[in-house]
Amino acid sequence: MVKICCIGAGYVGGPTMAMIALKCPKIEVAVVDISVPRINAWNSDQLPIYEPGLDEVVKQCRGKNLFFSTDVEKHVFEADIVFVSVNTPTKTRGLGAGKAADLTYWESAARMIADVSKSDKIVVEKSTVPVKTAEAIEKILTHNSKGINYQILSNPEFLAEGTAIQDLLNPDRVLIGGRETPEGLKAVQALKDVYAHWVPEDRILTTNLWSAELSKLAANAFLAQRISSVNAMSALCEATGADVTQVSYAVGKDTRIGPKFLNASVGFGGSCFQKDILNLVYI
Ligand SMILES: NC(=O)c1ccc[n+]([C@@H]2O[C@H](COP(=O)([O-])OP(=O)(O)OC[C@H]3O[C@@H](n4cnc5c(N)ncnc54)[C@H](O)[C@@H]3O)[C@@H](O)[C@H]2O)c1
Repeated sequence: MVKICCIGAGYVGGPTMAMIALKCPKIEVAVVDISVPRINAWNSDQLPIYEPGLDEVVKQCRGKNLFFSTDVEKHVFEADIVFVSVNTPTKTRGLGAGKAADLTYWESAARMIADVSKSDKIVVEKSTVPVKTAEAIEKILTHNSKGINYQILSNPEFLAEGTAIQDLLNPDRVLIGGRETPEGLKAVQALKDVYAHWVPEDRILTTNLWSAELSKLAANAFLAQRISSVNAMSALCEATGADVTQVSYAVGKDTRIGPKFLNASVGFGGSCFQKDILNLVYI
């Protein structure tokens, strides 16, 4: 039986792993976190996050092939595939403060993986990270590898809070980046096989590592750009007597533009957008 462990039981790790457990009954999935209250909540009737449909998915799999635990090291030790879905906030001090991603949590997770592993592992970047993070992680893992083979994959998450379950059930695409070596391609295929349990093959995109890392930042930047543009348009509307909802509806009817992400609002929402754009500007 393939064993998956996900480090980080947050908005991304929890729902994503619950969906994998639901769709792959023959895979054992452990979601681990250093936060005891968070894991206790995942094991209770009051899940730590609210997403429509999440309760039902968790109830169907928890205790069967889906487990939530604070025993991080045990589950990493046992896993064939380790997802890392820890938080990557914006740095508040030092070089790149206010712009660059703080990779402290990621690096400490990587060091722990290197410490406890005794067998080959595929390590999957689920967190949103700057381009070339995989190279830094590879260095941490292989520095003290004790003969263990690690393959690093980039598998960024595109779900939105509020529609996570629908986004996971029916994703526009799943993106998997890996090294273009025989071992790298084998690892990409292994992760592709997991998603192929429910995602049509033509929606599972495979790329090199850096394309996958950069695509996530670029997608968020493009989305934020649309909202920024419609917001700029709303100022013009106020000055001219036009109605921004009418203008965005008319503009969005153009099939080259499309209607989504064209609602004027106060700035652009979502911590991810702000963070990722700053990140992109920084790199
Ligand atoms: N929230 C979203 O909508 C969203 C969407 C796409 C991508 N992302 C990205 O996914 C990543 C995770 O985001 P999130 O919203 O799930 O974060 P989150 O803060 O909800 O969860 C992260 C979890 O990781 C745990 N953690 C940190 N270091 C750890 C360690 N060393 N060992 C074990 N657990 C550890 C924390 O305790 C926390 O529970 C971020 O990089 C984020 O930018 C988020």
